[in-house]
Amino acid sequence: MTLLTAAETYLQDFHQRQVGVTSAAFAHLPASSPAETWTSSYDVLTSLVPAVDTPLSVLDLACGDGHLLGLLAARRQPQLQLLGVDMSMAELAVARAALPPSVRLQQGRAQALDVPSASVDYLVSHMALMLMDDILQVVQGIRRVLRPGGQFAAILGRTFLLGEVNDVFMRVFKPIASDALPPMRFGDRRTGSEAGWRELLDGAFAQLTFDDIDVPWSPTPGQLWAALLDTYDIDRLDDDARQRLRSAFLDAVAYLKNADGVIVTGWGLRLVRARAA
Ligand SMILES: C[S@@+](CC[C@H](N)C(=O)[O-])C[C@H]1O[C@@H](n2cnc3c(N)ncnc32)[C@H](O)[C@@H]1O
Repeated sequence: MTLLTAAETYLQDFHQRQVGVTSAAFAHLPASSPAETWTSSYDVLTSLVPAVDTPLSVLDLACGDGHLLGLLAARRQPQLQLLGVDMSMAELAVARAALPPSVRLQQGRAQALDVPSASVDYLVSHMALMLMDDILQVVQGIRRVLRPGGQFAAILGRTFLLGEVNDVFMRVFKPIASDALPPMRFGDRRTGSEAGWRELLDGAFAQLTFDDIDVPWSPTPGQLWAALLDTYDIDRLDDDARQRLRSAFLDAVAYLKNADGVIVTGWGLRLVRARAA
């Protein structure tokens, strides 16, 4: 059995304690690009899967609690075969309870996909690939399981928070992190830029496209802090550092509240698409 990396061990533990936090954060917020709007960032990916009567297989890589697969299953598209892979047993247990039995779920690492070659028409992934070590191995696995001409589509982080609050957050977070955040590297830097993705997908994929997707959100400072508590770096702080960050953050963002008492912000995401060559 493959040993987990330090980051994977942490992620396993986090997702054991905090099941379903990604869908809780993103499922109910509309998403938009300059050209289009969607009901959520999950819908950005599901809308790429055509509603057809012919057989179609979709793999959701790092499917978490199965929210995206649930949207596809709700279509009741008779020949749509759905498969989710995730390394977290806790997330998969929630997915299993929520999804119809026809949706297959598999525990495993994206670096070692136990899926037949050339068996998948659409491989989608929401907010996960930027966390993964050995990303080249992951990309090779994605190419292997896709049929030639199959579509790869992933939503990833682009910025953290939208707007001025991002700079304010970074200003208060950095000194506390440099003092109290244990070092840990998540994923591969190349997943954070278009140039990086071009390098990763070069040769085995064609028709690369990139779209900026924004998920606008106007929370109260307290709601924003509650959402930040579910992010990995804040989770990794000890209680004392987290309390220091909380009061520094709430003080620092107070001037950004508008007349309704909320901060206009959101999450900055990127959609990466490519066809298996
Ligand atoms: C931020 S969550 C996103 C979950 C889901 N895609 C969603 O958006 O609701 C990241 C997920 O990636 C999974 N994950 C991280 N690294 C993985 C790997 N190497 N192989 C398989 N799953 C992985 C975690 O277990 C977790 O469920």
